[in-house]
Amino acid sequence: MVQGRRGVPGPSPTVPHRDGAAGGVTGNIPTPGMPVRPGLNSCGGLCTRRPARPLRPPSAHGGRRRHRKDLQHRRQRLAAANNRPTVARVTPTRLPSHATTSAVQLTINGEPHDVELDHRTSLLDALREHLGLTGTKKGCDHGQCGACTVLCDGRRVNSCLVLAVAAQDTEITTIEGIGSGPGDALHPVQQFFLDRDAYQCGYCTPGQICSAIAVLQEAAGGWPSAVTRRDRAATAGPIDLDPAEVRERMAGNLCRCGAYANIVPAVLDAAAGLAGR
Ligand code: FES
Ligand code: FES
Repeated sequence: MVQGRRGVPGPSPTVPHRDGAAGGVTGNIPTPGMPVRPGLNSCGGLCTRRPARPLRPPSAHGGRRRHRKDLQHRRQRLAAANNRPTVARVTPTRLPSHATTSAVQLTINGEPHDVELDHRTSLLDALREHLGLTGTKKGCDHGQCGACTVLCDGRRVNSCLVLAVAAQDTEITTIEGIGSGPGDALHPVQQFFLDRDAYQCGYCTPGQICSAIAVLQEAAGGWPSAVTRRDRAATAGPIDLDPAEVRERMAGNLCRCGAYANIVPAVLDAAAGLAGR
């Protein structure tokens, strides 16, 4: 019901103004005793604005609304999930960890050695790092230089290329086991290396000596090399070594000092000495 025309407030009870009483967010200060209609601003209804509502900070206001919506969405998602068919959850099975080490027994220079080794350990590392037999040298660790040559069942191998676990059932001979017979007499090959001064720094020498011993056995067994005459009968017996044969058969042992000029004669002397026994 209209109480009065604009600009002419009609009679109404005097009530405290909603915003004017608080100092006013509108900036209007009511005049004491001024008749104010309920729901009107402190202007007493002279303006056309809607009655002011208490304000909240906009961020708090918006944040609360967003929070309410989030809660609502979560409830909806939960309800949807509960109505879904149940899918069996697969729990990943923890597989038993495989052992990476083994107890290995190595027979080296006639003595058994029990050692716990990583399966990936090379025979060279087993000798040097686990058993303290450092006479065998590590040069390239890639089968290129022959510094790590040892004998397995009398045959020369690059110990850096042999897994220690694979050498379990073989008789391993290292430089420490050569020339360690009665009275510590040197092996003939060792003696001729000394006599011929067949080394400089000596780093390759243990491998050269092991290799040379195997070369003499291979030649004595009639094993041909790449330079052996092709028309030679396989059953013709031991092969006579000459410088070409020695160079070819020792080609897998590199000498960084270039002592080949004396190594070849030392091996030939050893072959002659062993043949003349
Ligand atoms: S260290 Fe084994 S061949 Fe070089
Ligand atoms: S003597 Fe030095 S590497 Fe052969």
